[in-house]
Amino acid sequence: MKNIALIGFMGTGKTSVGIKLADMLEWSFVDTDKLIEEKMGMPIPDIFEKFDEKRFRFEEKLAVEGVSNNTNQVISTGGGVVLNKDNVVCLKQSALLICLKANPQTILERVGHDSSRPLLAGENPLKIIINLLKLREPYYQCADLYLDTSEMTVQEAANEILYQLQKWGVSDVRCNKGQS
Ligand code: S3P
Repeated sequence: MKNIALIGFMGTGKTSVGIKLADMLEWSFVDTDKLIEEKMGMPIPDIFEKFDEKRFRFEEKLAVEGVSNNTNQVISTGGGVVLNKDNVVCLKQSALLICLKANPQTILERVGHDSSRPLLAGENPLKIIINLLKLREPYYQCADLYLDTSEMTVQEAANEILYQLQKWGVSDVRCNKGQS
């Protein structure tokens, strides 16, 4: 196993937990959304607006292919990355997939009023979250490990992931920093 990829719905903690985990492992942290924004020179809502979701998904696929060539990284992905089977196949070739989960209310509190999530823009973001979660549930079942972060701090979630990985005997995962 060369990388760890965090998948899961918006607001489940992929970025914050990923940064913490990478720090503890002394691995690199990469975020496919950030790579797309850097390449396109604009934030994600502008990519959706000036181009469309299809273009975003195309760039997302390229970003996934790019990061999968490197090793010793914690990869944070966008919530919709699993919608394209090619992305899942590609990620699985280099990474263990960890799916972060959270309940709809927690997701709403974390990102519901954040204008950087174009898919949640609407009159009733909670309803959008519930509907999208239902639609995406089957796609998230590709993960090797699941963690519900609803009641967890970022540090607790990162600790739990490391604990699970070590318990599984994933041999090349070593924590280089204290887990507290
Ligand atoms: C998306 C999630 C976002 C981002 C884009 C689309 C999705 O990433 O990739 O807005 O389809 O769920 P986060 O999951 O990091 O918010």
